[in-house]
Amino acid sequence: MKSVLVTGSSGLIGSEVVGYFAARGWAVHGVDNNQRAVFLGPGGDTRWNQRRLTTELPAFTHHELDIRDRDGVLALVATLRPSAIVHAAAQPSHDRAAAIPFDDFDTNAAGTLNLLEAARRACPASPFVHMSTNKVYGDRPNAIARRELPTRWDYADPAFAHGIPEDLSIDQSMHSLFGASKVAADVMVQEYGRYFGMPTCCLRGGCLTGPGHSGVELHGFLSYLVKCNLEGREYRVFGYKGKQVRDNIHSLDVARFIHAFIEAPRAGEVYNLGGGKDNSCSILEAFELVAARSGKAQRYVYVDEPRAGDHVCYYSDLRKMQAHFPGWSVTQSLPETIRQIVGSWTLRSRT
Ligand SMILES: NC(=O)c1ccc[n+]([C@@H]2O[C@H](COP(=O)([O-])OP(=O)(O)OC[C@H]3O[C@@H](n4cnc5c(N)ncnc54)[C@H](O)[C@@H]3O)[C@@H](O)[C@H]2O)c1
Repeated sequence: MKSVLVTGSSGLIGSEVVGYFAARGWAVHGVDNNQRAVFLGPGGDTRWNQRRLTTELPAFTHHELDIRDRDGVLALVATLRPSAIVHAAAQPSHDRAAAIPFDDFDTNAAGTLNLLEAARRACPASPFVHMSTNKVYGDRPNAIARRELPTRWDYADPAFAHGIPEDLSIDQSMHSLFGASKVAADVMVQEYGRYFGMPTCCLRGGCLTGPGHSGVELHGFLSYLVKCNLEGREYRVFGYKGKQVRDNIHSLDVARFIHAFIEAPRAGEVYNLGGGKDNSCSILEAFELVAARSGKAQRYVYVDEPRAGDHVCYYSDLRKMQAHFPGWSVTQSLPETIRQIVGSWTLRSRT
């Protein structure tokens, strides 16, 4: 029986991957310690999702472990020797990292090294998928010429008509401490691929979203925006006139790509993984999309100060992913994703 070890298994991506592989007959081992609630407060608590997985999936085993615990990680991977590893545990917030630099770096950089080295010792042939981020590019995308449209920014340079490719420099720009700790992990994952020949890849995520997110102001913008809308709470827009653009990808399409890579792995690869231009929206456009679904106008306040190092316009160029894995494409539209997020928050508010 094939087995997969998923870190961050109670989070958005981890829980989707757990359900995806369990439904396909794999034994699934999850590592999570609800650190999201420690990093981001009670709104970030992911125990509800852990309980859901444990209750619904007989093939799932939860391991209460901190990925910073080097001996614990080495021992678990040595015992399980999984057929694949999906690493989705992280301190995920761009803004939060500056207040907790040691926790951020120890989790994102050293935690990733713990898993890589554990994999090299116990199961070096098993595909290792690392959830990286588009913040590894720092604020370099902001240097691309852009034009202002009525509700969004867009690239004016035709070289970026399809979005941001993987060869954009990750060097000499402002990343936030989060972006920097994720760069360290990203480069290390590539190195275990190139230096040791292990089947590793980095998925540099745009906005990953879906019904399994525990969105808070500091992380998970679409999930949090929907929550604010449903509860009639004010959403704070930080700078760029609310026209900043993000590309949104449903966690199911992330899990589908991870599966495709595990079935046909390469060594030390890097992919920009987002919804692409078709699934992109500005904050102002997101307000309209959510209001169209919920029937409630969005209350918001504008703060005339962008978040440090934030992207003005970012959408992923998906052509490398599609060239390497022609069977993969984005299947969940943005309105459908919003419909599911609305449904999930409505359900959670009743339990
Ligand atoms: N959601 C996004 O928009 C987005 C965008 C780009 C990249 N990513 C990356 O994708 C990955 C998954 O993101 P997500 O949105 O699912 O995050 P999430 O916060 O929903 O899930 C992460 C999970 O990891 C757990 N965790 C954190 N630190 C841990 C530790 N030290 N030990 C054990 N468990 C720990 C948390 O409790 C949480 O359940 C992260 O690496 C993140 O940086 C996410």
